[in-house]
Amino acid sequence: MSWPEARARFPVLERYAYLNAGTFGPLSRATLEATARLRSWEAAHGRASRTYFDEMLEGRERVRALVAEQIGVPAHNLALTESTTQGVHVAVIGLGLGSGDEVVTTDAEHFGLTGPLVATGATLRIARVRDAPAADVLDLIAREVTPRTRLVATSAVSWIDGKVFPWHELRERTQVPILVDGAQAAGAIEVDATGADFYTVSAQKWLCGPDATGALYVAEPEALPPRLVGYPGAESYDIAAGTWQPKEGARRFDPAFLPATSVAGLEAALGDLPDGRFARARELAERCRELLLQQGHDVVTEPGQATLVSFRWPGDAEAAVAALAERRVIVRELPGTGLLRASIGWWNDGSDLERLVEGLAAVD
Ligand SMILES: Cc1ncc(COP(=O)(O)O)c(C=O)c1O
Repeated sequence: MSWPEARARFPVLERYAYLNAGTFGPLSRATLEATARLRSWEAAHGRASRTYFDEMLEGRERVRALVAEQIGVPAHNLALTESTTQGVHVAVIGLGLGSGDEVVTTDAEHFGLTGPLVATGATLRIARVRDAPAADVLDLIAREVTPRTRLVATSAVSWIDGKVFPWHELRERTQVPILVDGAQAAGAIEVDATGADFYTVSAQKWLCGPDATGALYVAEPEALPPRLVGYPGAESYDIAAGTWQPKEGARRFDPAFLPATSVAGLEAALGDLPDGRFARARELAERCRELLLQQGHDVVTEPGQATLVSFRWPGDAEAAVAALAERRVIVRELPGTGLLRASIGWWNDGSDLERLVEGLAAVD
């Protein structure tokens, strides 16, 4: 399959230079059709038959295997969630973190990670890495770790500027359990989540899944008490006795049934991904950096990072995003930072990047 053919899977790209997979990935025709087909079936036959339910359960297992493959882990260790945020909740509530515990994290995290950490009541030691060079991140985080640290919680890729965090090295050096927020990594760059204790996935972003789809890798499922418990995680239960038996492996952490249509859409999204997609996205991201620099923009993303490219906008960033959208160029601004962020995926091409720089020149 050629890159133009791969690109042609995504209707949004016919009209837009769509550069915001860091929020929501583009939806392919196959994903949209799988979702619509099942919705029509539901309309005709209802959503409650035994066959319908069994097919949804089988679909969940196929999706579990597909997502697991994307991050290089066994399906046995993967819970299906609705988001990264929910995955973080499963991990930190399961660990029973509370006041008296210490967690090391950074000032470059998304609230989807920081929010659940704060809510535990644990003491947070926050490494200042947001404006630091990528090469300094390992030391800056490691130096916050003390003998009392129960967990290190950090991104695989910063949502602010696409910086790649050296979490494998961090785990190795500190020997402290690590929770990795993979929201901006899974589907964007090659991921090997083995070595993490917990690794979250947001499937609605770079994996181009329907909204509210995600996953959580748990290295040792039997060692984490299931506390955010939901019906899909139970092998059996006895309401009168007040007891339950969790499923094997990380299935016990499945907090909720995703809508059957979302399962079908995510399966279609992951079904036939092109080889070489990570190299393609990285190459385009690099080209985007260079084009922006050539046009005199203050690019904050260092070379050789992931697939987000951020740059300072001297004027009103929100107004710039709106003006670009009018020209059918979709990027986002990062509130409170003065930064604009372009997300570059394997579905993009040089024309999207040119439209971005032309659009910026027109808005300037
Ligand atoms: C790094 C990072 N973590 C977490 C989130 C939240 O993701 P979700 O909506 O899947 O909880 C985002 C969303 O943008 C993100 O960029």
